[in-house]
Amino acid sequence: MTDHEQFPEGFLWGAATASFQIEGATAADGRGPSIWDTFCATPGNVLGGDTGEPAVDHYHRYPEDIALMRRLNLGAYRFSIAWPRVLPEGAGQVNQAGLDFYDRLVDALLEAGIQPWATLYHWDLPQRLQDAGGWPNRDTALRFADYTRIVADALGDRVENWMTLNEPWCASILSHYHGEHAPGHRDPVAALTSAHHLLLGHGLAAEVLRSTGHTARVGLAHNQAVIRPHGATAEDVRAARRADGVRNRIFTDPLFKGAYPADVIADLADITDFSFVADGDLATVAAPLDFLGVNYYMPEWVAASAKGLDPDAVSGEGGAWLGASPEEVHVSQGLPVTHMGWEVDPSGMFDVLRRLAAESGGIDLYVTENGCAYEDTVTDDGRIHDTDRVDYYEGHVRAALEAVRSGVPLRGYFAWSLLDNFEWAWGYSRRFGLVRVDYDTQERLVKDSGLWYAQLAREGRVPTR
Ligand code: FCB
Repeated sequence: MTDHEQFPEGFLWGAATASFQIEGATAADGRGPSIWDTFCATPGNVLGGDTGEPAVDHYHRYPEDIALMRRLNLGAYRFSIAWPRVLPEGAGQVNQAGLDFYDRLVDALLEAGIQPWATLYHWDLPQRLQDAGGWPNRDTALRFADYTRIVADALGDRVENWMTLNEPWCASILSHYHGEHAPGHRDPVAALTSAHHLLLGHGLAAEVLRSTGHTARVGLAHNQAVIRPHGATAEDVRAARRADGVRNRIFTDPLFKGAYPADVIADLADITDFSFVADGDLATVAAPLDFLGVNYYMPEWVAASAKGLDPDAVSGEGGAWLGASPEEVHVSQGLPVTHMGWEVDPSGMFDVLRRLAAESGGIDLYVTENGCAYEDTVTDDGRIHDTDRVDYYEGHVRAALEAVRSGVPLRGYFAWSLLDNFEWAWGYSRRFGLVRVDYDTQERLVKDSGLWYAQLAREGRVPTR
């Protein structure tokens, strides 16, 4: 009899974090400033004026955090490396003390029997490189390759699984067009140029990782948006196609087809002629990947216009996505939402995995982020009964299992996040952890969701509740 709750043998269970969100110690041991330090320092950018200091002090508390990973039975831990720790000025002089931190971390993970999965860029660009133009400057892609060489030489004998970039859409369009993330610009040309240079940086870094002589599996963590038309009208379907182009295919087509999509080039013709693409770039970008990381949180619905819709359900007027007409909008469907206001719909996870399995040509997929923020309370019994978070995870883990059963080559799943942490523009107000952090004392407390996840990871089957 088939056990319908059981994942295949060897399915990998992990949790993910990112350097700026957890490390703190922003001035320790020679780390240079990043664009996120600068962004946080400007009032109004981050809720409550929160900064990357002290975050959850993981830089000093990593042994305790690895002990927690063991308690959660994690087979793998996805973390990111802070470029400004390794190269305080972005290029040139290597800061050995910064590199040594990751060396210690990797050794301690391996000793604990946990696979280290490293992301090279989770948004903390050295400020010096921003001063020189940042991602809109093509040179940043070349500097990224240099930085990758240094990290790969130091850790490549022990780290096998690499993600070059985390969420190139956020690092380019959310941060250079919508202005919500560092460096907080609102310039569509800079946003699109950045997107291309991030992809180029990915391709160059992939070449570097493959040239070290060590075994390296190369991927990236992509937040493919699940975009659905609100209505069945031709106008809403067209809006969904346009949004999908600039959110998804502008990244996945270069990666998997070596070309920008013709409809996206046409849709964006008033903004750019794509002359930032140099000869040979797309061949570099499209070098085969070993795996694709998929970050999924929620689906989105779009409509060609807000006319006739409940005004409370509509958002994004005047620029819902880069290239949107002023009328095109996002429309909420009235589903339950997390503390981020994100609608909960596990069917989006199934859909995104099916689609990317088809588009990526059969390479291994991993969910490299999935999770939710809720307002946790510590109850009188000293615990956090976060049933809303357990429900979220259970729904999405089941959707992942359904995808596996339907033939998707999904090999693992990383929860976002191991610990409560600095949630970018939301500061410390949004808690995504399987483990709570008391920000006054830095005390860690495993939530009920953490206990549930530990059982899932130990048994490889959805726990009975
Ligand atoms: C993703 C980011 C991650 C975290 C989650 C909630 O977009 O990759 O750092 O902030 O969202």
